[in-house]
Amino acid sequence: MRHFTDIDKILIKSNDILNMLFNIKSSGRVYPATDIEETKEMSYSEKKLVNNLMRVNHSGEVAAQGLYIGHAILAKTDQQKEMMLNMASEEKDHLEWCEKRIDELKGNTSILNPIWFSGSIVIGMISSISKDKNALGFIEETEKQVAKHLDTHLEKIPKTDNKTYKILKKMKSDEEHHGETAKNNGANEISSNLKKVMEITANVMKFFSYRI
Ligand SMILES: [Fe+2]
Ligand SMILES: [Fe+2]
Repeated sequence: MRHFTDIDKILIKSNDILNMLFNIKSSGRVYPATDIEETKEMSYSEKKLVNNLMRVNHSGEVAAQGLYIGHAILAKTDQQKEMMLNMASEEKDHLEWCEKRIDELKGNTSILNPIWFSGSIVIGMISSISKDKNALGFIEETEKQVAKHLDTHLEKIPKTDNKTYKILKKMKSDEEHHGETAKNNGANEISSNLKKVMEITANVMKFFSYRI
């Protein structure tokens, strides 16, 4: 059997981390709005509103990538790591769908995304330092908050924008499923203080990504 030196182990781990950082593939599901006609009725300001909202959602998905990768890097078991990477791959679908919708409306993504990405990796790693079940509790709460947030966007988008509606609906049902997966795998309930901190952090991201 091959013997790995400490240097070998560090190189293997670094390679593994680089792969997670840059090679997460989307799960390849079809864009939910593929068969839906673009509405001709949206005004300039309505399109701008949808762009701003989708920019926020796109940043949220960038953060989700960071969060799941951060959790995968320090996951204590292979099973937990695989679960995190699977969810990261579904979040990558969301990221691509948001980007496509923004492109269709000729908008732009947030210039702050590198900050959300790197910050979320750190948060994911910090959350992973404690027990796996606490890390799952953090994920369950994140997904609950995201699903709730998507509900507010479903309310805000113009009633004629069926494309965005379809995308957000699908994302919401995936986020609920991610939350349930974390719960079914034994997530511990996190403290109400931490929940509050998570809401505040998310609000900071939403405030800035809506604008730039
Ligand atoms: Fe997502
Ligand atoms: Fe999710």
